[in-house]
Amino acid sequence: MAAALPWLSAGRTVIDLGAGYGGSARYLAAGHGCNVVCLNLSETQNATNRKLTGAAGLADRVSVVHGSFEDVPEEDASFDAVWSQDAILHSGNRPRVLDEISRVLRPGGDFVFTDPMQSDTCPPGVLAPILDRIHLDSLGSPAFYREELAARGFEERSWTDLTEHMRTHYSRVAQTLQGRYDEMVSRCSREYVDNMLRGLDHWVTGADRGHLAWGIFHFAKAA
Ligand SMILES: C[S@@+](CC[C@H](N)C(=O)[O-])C[C@H]1O[C@@H](n2cnc3c(N)ncnc32)[C@H](O)[C@@H]1O
Repeated sequence: MAAALPWLSAGRTVIDLGAGYGGSARYLAAGHGCNVVCLNLSETQNATNRKLTGAAGLADRVSVVHGSFEDVPEEDASFDAVWSQDAILHSGNRPRVLDEISRVLRPGGDFVFTDPMQSDTCPPGVLAPILDRIHLDSLGSPAFYREELAARGFEERSWTDLTEHMRTHYSRVAQTLQGRYDEMVSRCSREYVDNMLRGLDHWVTGADRGHLAWGIFHFAKAA
């Protein structure tokens, strides 16, 4: 993803939407010298992010902001790039998130992201087991992002299709969880771990059936 932004350097500004623990922000700030705002809805993750960022000596370049990517608490046109990894799927209103991305990005700025998506050929209804578990009505798709971003004046720069990683990722998480089953049920509940294993299996099945898509999208906002 960083390779899509070769101009990243000191003084440039990036916002990471749904930044989790801020690993990407520290990578960008340390490796490229840019300033990164981590926006995230979880105060628990934000506290861990601040601790890790402080320990890395990057607090002057990485700031952690509590908030939702459906209502970004930042000025219009204030970022050179919007970055997001595997977070936008959690929104029940993705068009609103794309409006916010368009608003905070400066003209000519870049939007680079990954998101677990349904494939463009996914038949209706088949993802219900996946969606029910994460309390969503839908997933985005490559076609959805292309259409919605084109309507907002964005131009597609690249799509790196890495869909085969979906099966690898979810099956390896399941294997690891299964391998540490006793330890994990002692730390949460058996019901939680069993539900998690069933949920992971739905993602693996969805990937095997060609219903899912994942990769790196890069769009540029009109100058
Ligand atoms: C799968 S995690 C990905 C975290 C991080 N981007 C990474 O790749 O490690 C999804 C993240 O989205 C965040 N998130 C979910 N809904 C959000 C919202 N409406 N606004 C901001 N962050 C949100 C969650 O708190 C979580 O950190």
